[in-house]
Amino acid sequence: MATVTLKDVQKSYGAAQVIKGVDLSVDDREFCVFVGPSGCGKSTLLRMIAGLEEISSGDLIIDGQRVNDVPPSERGLAMVFQSYALYPHMSVADNMGFSLRLAGVPKEERRAKVTEAARILHLDKLLERKPKELSGGQRQRVAIGRAIVRKPKVFLFDEPLSNLDAALRVQMRIELARLHDELAATMIYVTHDQVEAMTMADKIVVLQGGIVEQAGSPLELYHHPRNIFVAGFIGSPKMNFLPAKVTAIDAASTTVQLTNGASVAIAVKPGRLKVGDAVTLGVRPEHMRPAESGEITGEVMVVERLGGETFIYTQLTDGSMLIIQADGEISTSVHERITVKLDPATCHLFDSDGLAIERIHRHPLANLRRSPPPARQADAGRSVR
Ligand SMILES: Nc1ncnc2c1ncn2[C@@H]1O[C@H](COP(=O)(O)OP(=O)(O)O)[C@@H](O)[C@H]1O
Ligand SMILES: [Mg+2]
Repeated sequence: MATVTLKDVQKSYGAAQVIKGVDLSVDDREFCVFVGPSGCGKSTLLRMIAGLEEISSGDLIIDGQRVNDVPPSERGLAMVFQSYALYPHMSVADNMGFSLRLAGVPKEERRAKVTEAARILHLDKLLERKPKELSGGQRQRVAIGRAIVRKPKVFLFDEPLSNLDAALRVQMRIELARLHDELAATMIYVTHDQVEAMTMADKIVVLQGGIVEQAGSPLELYHHPRNIFVAGFIGSPKMNFLPAKVTAIDAASTTVQLTNGASVAIAVKPGRLKVGDAVTLGVRPEHMRPAESGEITGEVMVVERLGGETFIYTQLTDGSMLIIQADGEISTSVHERITVKLDPATCHLFDSDGLAIERIHRHPLANLRRSPPPARQADAGRSVR
């Protein structure tokens, strides 16, 4: 069992408050990802959990025990950083076993733990090498191995893949997801990359300016973003935002009119908006399909062909730019006119404060977890298979 709970956790450096009251619960065996732009407080929050930063106010609770004042070494956590900080003169095996040696673990036990971690991380054949004889991805695996041998209750990762090239990041992402399943451990992972968050997390916590904008499953955040910030942060390319005005409201839908005069009726709950209100219509590029006729027409300015799909940057009459995701096969080229049909079921509506208007229907996959929920693994035990 390893749960982590934060209650109104705050952090100030002098007069500057950088974490402004975070409430959060990380479930047992959950893969929780903190994501947000640079400087939003991700590392600070993780370092407070690790015990490397003092908590200014609030409670940090691990497995039901308040640990604000418990030293890092006694919290049962292990942290993996972006910089691997391996000892250059030590072999892979010695690097991985170093913390165990410091803790006075007998040699045989140390060897067994290092061997097991090396097997999990596919480092078996590299145990005698020095760090300089390893690739970046292998070094990062050694750094993870150092954490695994300690059998921590919770793994903490701070942007561990940021130093790797794009292809290796994708590979390590998959390995980390697999590792999470094999270790059945609670993990908290910090990244600025929303793709890493979407692909690895059971729960994503979106941070901005020291506050939690939203916490939920990847598809919860994708289908039901709570505000314009989350809507724009999750998903790539970004969601398109169009100014609109409310023209009609009934129990089943709210109708909004775009600046070009076209109308869309969206199935959101009535009550928050009134006719005449200025709103923002949000539509993801992948939900804007070119069609013979539709609500929006513009001029194609840039075409990005990725082979399997095409991103079409389209300028509207008011000067704003719309991104449309189309098939790889589409023959559109620059300066042509293009029309898109909106699917109201995939449109988002935000009020003038940027808060989402709640949909009537929840997406059927919004609560889907990436990994099996803890209850189904109840007998698996914490130990490594
Ligand atoms: N030791 C410190 N003293 C003063 N300000 C700090 C310190 N550490 C971090 N900060 C500030 O706290 C904010 C959050 O930093 P950080 O948690 O590192 O962000 P992130 O990891 O999301 O990029 C930033 O504005 C940063 O400048
Ligand atoms: Mg950071």
